[in-house]
Amino acid sequence: MQPFHIAIDGPAGSGKSSISKELAVKLNCIHIDTGAMYRAVTAIALRNQTPLDDVNSYQFLESSKFVYKKESIYVNDENLTEVIRDKTISQHVSLVSSIKYVRETLVKVQQDIAKDYDVVMDGRDIGSVVLPHAQVKIFLTAQIEERAKRRIHEMGLDIPLRQMIEDIQTRDFKDSTRAISPLTKASDAIIIDTTYLTKKEVIELIMTEINKRK
Ligand code: DC
Repeated sequence: MQPFHIAIDGPAGSGKSSISKELAVKLNCIHIDTGAMYRAVTAIALRNQTPLDDVNSYQFLESSKFVYKKESIYVNDENLTEVIRDKTISQHVSLVSSIKYVRETLVKVQQDIAKDYDVVMDGRDIGSVVLPHAQVKIFLTAQIEERAKRRIHEMGLDIPLRQMIEDIQTRDFKDSTRAISPLTKASDAIIIDTTYLTKKEVIELIMTEINKRK
């Protein structure tokens, strides 16, 4: 039987990861947070102290094995879950994720995982590039202030709301204007504005779409 794929895209703080996580539990399938993969690559490149804009800095990807398990990310058995939430990573991840070689490599890893399994995969280019044949495609949005509040809460940060709004705006701009696979809504994705919805309500809306297609 064809695996069932659910693609969830959207900007930072739109609720993608927490909604996807809960959805996967409900559907008893795998959840892949692809943003965590780009963050892990950023963490390794920063640790190696090689220039982030040089494609040769990412040769380590040739021998890197990514495992995303129980909301934790491992690269070659090293657990990077905590490290990737650091502010420095958020500041550099847009540059790293604009590098063609990095994208091609990670897209392949993501497609390989999804090949044989039902998955809920979240990111920026899932419905458009990684899983263009996903049975359900959702594009989550929310007003910027709400997204900033959620990010602060999610990451347990102690920074002013204004600063987080600016950080998110900068990242949104970079993510949606980069040359390769920018953040885009797939033409057949359903838009859900989560600003005034509870997590439960968003999940119910997505479940309705899933049930229509199952
Ligand atoms: O979802 P997140 O904020 O953890 O993602 C971190 C960065 O990774 C984000 O700024 C853009 C990039 N990203 C991407 O380019 N493609 C994806 N599929 C997922 C994330």
